[in-house]
Amino acid sequence: MPPIENNGTQAPAPLNVALIPGDGVGPEVVAATAPLLVAAGALDGRDVRLTELDWGAGRWLREGSAKPDDAAAILRGFDAGLFGAVGRPDVPDDVSSWGLIISLRQELGLFANLRPVRHVPGIPSPVVGAEGTDMLIVRENSEGEYSGIGGRVAATPDAEVAVELAVHSRAAIERLGRYAFDQAEQRGGRLTLATKSNAFRHGFVLWDRVIRELAAEHPDVIVDYALVDALAARIIQRPGSVDVMLASNLFGDILSDLAAVLCGGLGMAPSANVRPGGDVPGLYEPVHGSAPDIAGRGIANPVGCILSAAMLLDDCGCPRGAAALRDAVTDALQDPAHRTRDIGGEATTDAVAVAIGDRLSGVTAA
Ligand code: IPM
Ligand code: MG
Repeated sequence: MPPIENNGTQAPAPLNVALIPGDGVGPEVVAATAPLLVAAGALDGRDVRLTELDWGAGRWLREGSAKPDDAAAILRGFDAGLFGAVGRPDVPDDVSSWGLIISLRQELGLFANLRPVRHVPGIPSPVVGAEGTDMLIVRENSEGEYSGIGGRVAATPDAEVAVELAVHSRAAIERLGRYAFDQAEQRGGRLTLATKSNAFRHGFVLWDRVIRELAAEHPDVIVDYALVDALAARIIQRPGSVDVMLASNLFGDILSDLAAVLCGGLGMAPSANVRPGGDVPGLYEPVHGSAPDIAGRGIANPVGCILSAAMLLDDCGCPRGAAALRDAVTDALQDPAHRTRDIGGEATTDAVAVAIGDRLSGVTAA
């Protein structure tokens, strides 16, 4: 689209965002976030245009597929996507996950899954010493244990065998590793690599080797080679000992849920699926899942989704809106009346979003 002339200055291009609310609480948290995304984008002068896509397990039940065949091509027509959650009890979990989010990550080449773990002051945590936690999990998002390669065979029903192959390529480790070192340089200068190279003799040995090579190019970053089991304990006992954490697909998945507990739980945790350096729209999503047990009750915590929207804005050239949205979240949550029940309050999803919106409306545009 040609730029529009406005008093001799070019109006910023609109920001086209695909909303993929998905299943369970996904539609509730995305609906609560949408107006905040629009309001925050306006602070950078951007007209945020939202297009809702009805992809998810519900679509799978109706139409036999969770998303259209050309879903990746459709998303390439947007600047970014905001994703809610996928999965419902009447659809097998692997069908809904592979039918949507895992295949989208792979088809769009969104090889980095970024999961900041930042404790919002005052939010209760079951972990002693979690106050001040600020780490970044950089999770491999394209292969590893999520290769999808494998199968099941059974000579007789009681002799069934399943094989699930993990794929760890030098190219994938290196491109993500470079990104993680860059992040470590911009942050506290420390990088923790999560592996299990004492038991897995091939894939994680390669991870260690490639990261050692990159470490030689980044003498300013202190690298800590950790075994994932011991690291899980360390995240809880000494959260401050981790700055940037680099992990495989599966380990990053597990450790990000664990680390979210430091900040009050899964409802607080944002994430971004991105392709650093690539011209591909990112997909931004709360770390929590579809939570069918509380879906439809209006009580889901929207903060993970709202903070994911802030990551979206940052990546789409709206730093003012992103910062204002984060500040509004922190500010609103200081009042326990604006907290959902997962973090000790009684507020509804919408009430939390309204409180955040009220604070956002006090910020003036650039
Ligand atoms: C996540 C989720 C997904 C994953 C599921 C839904 C497949 O747990 O984004 O953390 O394992 O990647
Ligand atoms: Mg997960």
